This record gives sequence, C-alpha cells and structure tokens, in this order.
Amino acid sequence: MSKRLKELYEHITECLREVVESPHREAELLLIAYLDKDQLYFITHQEDLIDENDPKLLEWIAKRRANVPLEYLTNRVSFYSREFYIDEGALIPRPETEHLIDEILARVNLDKMITIVEVGVGSGIISIMLALHYPNARFIAVDISPRALAVARRNIDIFGLNDRIELREGDLLSCVDEKIDLLVSNPPYIAHEAPLEKNLSYEPQNALFGGEIGDEIIQRLLDEVYLRRIPTFVCEMGYDQRVKVQEDLKNFALQSLDFYTDYASFDRGFVLKAIHE
Ligand SMILES: C[S@@+](CC[C@H](N)C(=O)[O-])C[C@H]1O[C@@H](n2cnc3c(N)ncnc32)[C@H](O)[C@@H]1O
Repeated sequence: MSKRLKELYEHITECLREVVESPHREAELLLIAYLDKDQLYFITHQEDLIDENDPKLLEWIAKRRANVPLEYLTNRVSFYSREFYIDEGALIPRPETEHLIDEILARVNLDKMITIVEVGVGSGIISIMLALHYPNARFIAVDISPRALAVARRNIDIFGLNDRIELREGDLLSCVDEKIDLLVSNPPYIAHEAPLEKNLSYEPQNALFGGEIGDEIIQRLLDEVYLRRIPTFVCEMGYDQRVKVQEDLKNFALQSLDFYTDYASFDRGFVLKAIHE
C-alpha cells in the first residue's frame, strides 16, 4: 500500500517516538536517506506516494526501534556541516568533536608546510576537515582498526584528498617515523566499566574504551609528545579527565596548556604547546 510522504513521515515519527529523543527529526532524515534525496526535495514532495511496505523501509524502522544508530542504517553522517560516509567499522562522529576542529583553527597558525599526524582517524572527519582548511599541510592518519581505515579511505576518496592524507595501520605512532609538527587525536577515553547508552553497543568498542581508567591512551600519547619532542598536541578527552592531564604534565616545560569545553560546557579537550629544549 502507498502513503503520501507527509503521512508516512507522521507514521514513522510515531513508530520512533518511544525509542528516540527527536522522532520528527529522525523520521525526516530516515526518509531523506531512503529516497536518496535532500531536505529541499523532502519539503517540496510531501504529496508523493511511497510504498509503505517496502522491505528496506520496514527493516530500517525495525532496526532503529532496536536502537541501531540511524547513521549506520543510512550510511550518512553530518559533521561540521559536511556529509560523510559511515558504517559499523568506525565511530559515528560526535558534534563535540567539532570543538576540536575549532580550537585548532583558532589557535594553530599553519602558514608554512607542516606535517600533521592524527592518531585514531576513524571515519576520517578530523583529518579531512583540517586538510580542507590547511592546504599547506600534509597528513598522516593512523588507526589500529582496518575496518575504520576502510571508512576513512572511502571519505578521503569522496573529498578528493588522496594525495594529501596518507592512511597507516598501527598502534599509536608505531608506524610514524617522520618529524611531527602537530599531533591531533580524539582517542578512545571511556573507562571499561562505565555504564553506556544502548545504541553505543553497536559502535566499535576499541573506538570507545581507553582502558580500565579510561585515559590510558591519552597518557601514552602524552608520553609520545615528550619523547618525540612534538611541539603541539590537540586532544579530545572525557569531561572528568582534566586534573589527571594536568598532573601528568607537571614535568613538562609548557608554553601553554588550554582546556576547552563542549556544547554542554563540559571539559572536552586541550591544546598543549610544549617547549622541548
Ligand atoms: C573515538 S574514535 C575517533 C574516530 C574519529 N577520529 C572521530 O573523531 O570521530 C577513536 C579511534 O581510535 C582508534 N584506536 C583505538 N586504539 C588505537 C591505538 N592504540 N592506535 C591507533 N588507533 C587506535 C579506534 O579504532 C578509533 O577509530
């Protein structure tokens, strides 16, 4: 049976109401992706007839009701006003990571050719957004997960940045011998035992959990900054990890250490400029 798009939209909204926080918004995004159109089309084709029993549509609604993230169903995710490909191989980019991009753009002056290394590239959003803003920089983007690297590869292709962003598989900086001017990371930073929302169980666990305490990978990255004399490190972190980071940096000669907050005003990361004598 067919329904008008506007009726189907209301129907899907009702189906999702008990499960998601923004049922109208998700019903709209689901239909836009299902139709493979954009928002303008959705708004201007409300009277179109759509088969409400199409198996793909029914499957998407059922899976979303079972908490599968919408982004994994539609293979679309928006970050920093751009659309990226996403699948279960990589973490779904979070809005708070947009602050990490903002902090770099505001605080790091990149007028000369430099090498930027990202650890934990995931879907590629950070390196791609930075590559679009910094035409003089070359990027080495590392991940330990081949599945995440496949998602990053796909997005780097879409944005035509193959000659600017080199992907490498490895543990932190084990596969990077080059001199690093700027190290960037949104590492996994959740503690193993932390209680999680249901939909997080669909995301790659090695993208979420940083260790028993949660900040183990951040600590390892700080060690690398010290040992490899990296001048600038920008890193996302958990809302409760500021004091630990400050303690770990007691023996560092710092030019500056600035913490930044996210949309909810929680501590979310830091920009470290080190002095290596
Ligand atoms: C929180 S996700 C960030 C993904 C993406 N950069 C973003 O901001 O959406 C962390 C990423 O780090 C990767 N990762 C975890 N442990 C790693 C390690 N030891 N070395 C390199 N990458 C690692 C995970 O596979 C995952 O893709």
